[in-house]
Amino acid sequence: MPKVLIINGSPRVGGNTSIAIDEMVKIFEDEGVETEVVQVGNKDIRGCISCESCFEKGKCVFDDIVNELATKFEAADGLVVASPVYYSSANATLIACLDRLFYSTHFDKTMKVGASVVCARRGGLSATFDELNKYFTICGMPVASSQYWNSIHGNEKGQAREDLEGLQTMRVLARNMTFLMKSIALGKEKYGLPEKEEWQPTHFIR
Ligand SMILES: Cc1cc2nc3c(=O)[nH]c(=O)nc-3n(C[C@H](O)[C@H](O)[C@H](O)COP(=O)(O)O)c2cc1C
Repeated sequence: MPKVLIINGSPRVGGNTSIAIDEMVKIFEDEGVETEVVQVGNKDIRGCISCESCFEKGKCVFDDIVNELATKFEAADGLVVASPVYYSSANATLIACLDRLFYSTHFDKTMKVGASVVCARRGGLSATFDELNKYFTICGMPVASSQYWNSIHGNEKGQAREDLEGLQTMRVLARNMTFLMKSIALGKEKYGLPEKEEWQPTHFIR
């Protein structure tokens, strides 16, 4: 059965982002998907210092929750990244976490399914959605989508429960993501992963 790691970027335990995640978890459980939710927005997570030591050590130089998430991410078939919108962007702690998680992990992420979820009072949802999807689309991860951009509205804790369309968007997203993960598992058995090419990096000056 597929496994999904869910990273909650909100600092508020039981906040509106958690409501969106819980709505997805219910569907994942019905569909037999194993889930693990890790809340990172309330943790002390510093940003990447570009020391590049992860290329030698195979893990981040700061031995904190990011290295724990790395092991869980490697074992997962899908990753959900959920964030409250702060100034039309994702929560800064979450970004520090994701920069280090994606940069310091060198296992193959091809065909692990990604989905991002954003939560706001009113604005900046689609900008944040685009920001989060970029972590997936740089490393061969197909992105699961729903009936609308994956967003939910609410400001005070609990208000997201009143956004019925937002909750439905989360349920549909969880079903679509499940279908993708199961289909990819079948595809891997039948066809294997796509052929890999050696990376040819250029930085436009040579
Ligand atoms: C620092 C900060 C910046 C925020 N910026 C935005 C914003 O740009 N747009 C918006 O609609 N809501 C904004 N909000 C409101 C939150 O997105 C909203 O309260 C959301 O429900 C928080 O989710 P949570 O309960 O999971 O933490 C901001 C809140 C904070 C604390």
